[in-house]
Amino acid sequence: MKIRLTVNGEPREADVWAGESLLTALRDTLELPGSKNACEQGECGSCSVLLDGDLVCACLVLAAQADGHAVTTVEGLRSDDGLHRVQQAFVEAGAVQCGFCTPGLVVAVTDLLARTPDPGDDEIREALSGNLCRCTGYAKIFDAVRLAAEHR
Ligand code: FES
Ligand code: FES
Repeated sequence: MKIRLTVNGEPREADVWAGESLLTALRDTLELPGSKNACEQGECGSCSVLLDGDLVCACLVLAAQADGHAVTTVEGLRSDDGLHRVQQAFVEAGAVQCGFCTPGLVVAVTDLLARTPDPGDDEIREALSGNLCRCTGYAKIFDAVRLAAEHR
């Protein structure tokens, strides 16, 4: 089946099968590999994207459900002026090790700061509770969130 959706501000089309996830369509058909595939069960958050502005796990959304909707991936956060402030903050804070969790975290933090511009530690903890990182111990990730909030 053919779907038409807006991805990172651009109209796109994709041929998908009925059970195909949005994550697979983004990565394999629409050539946007930023969203990572780690668990495919909604457990790790590495596939986080915004669907009509709401944070979702792209592995749990059928591509067909995105037909007619707007998706923002980590690739879409960057602008002509450079990295998004959250992306820049992850770099400056040293919050990236293997980097596999980073795209999902960047999208989740962007969503958090859109709703809560100056979050406290508990708000950060709750907002990122669906994003698993095996490398950093989260301290640097929290630093990155605080840094991004300062740069608004
Ligand atoms: S790959 Fe989607 S939550 Fe892990
Ligand atoms: S930096 Fe490796 S999983 Fe988070």
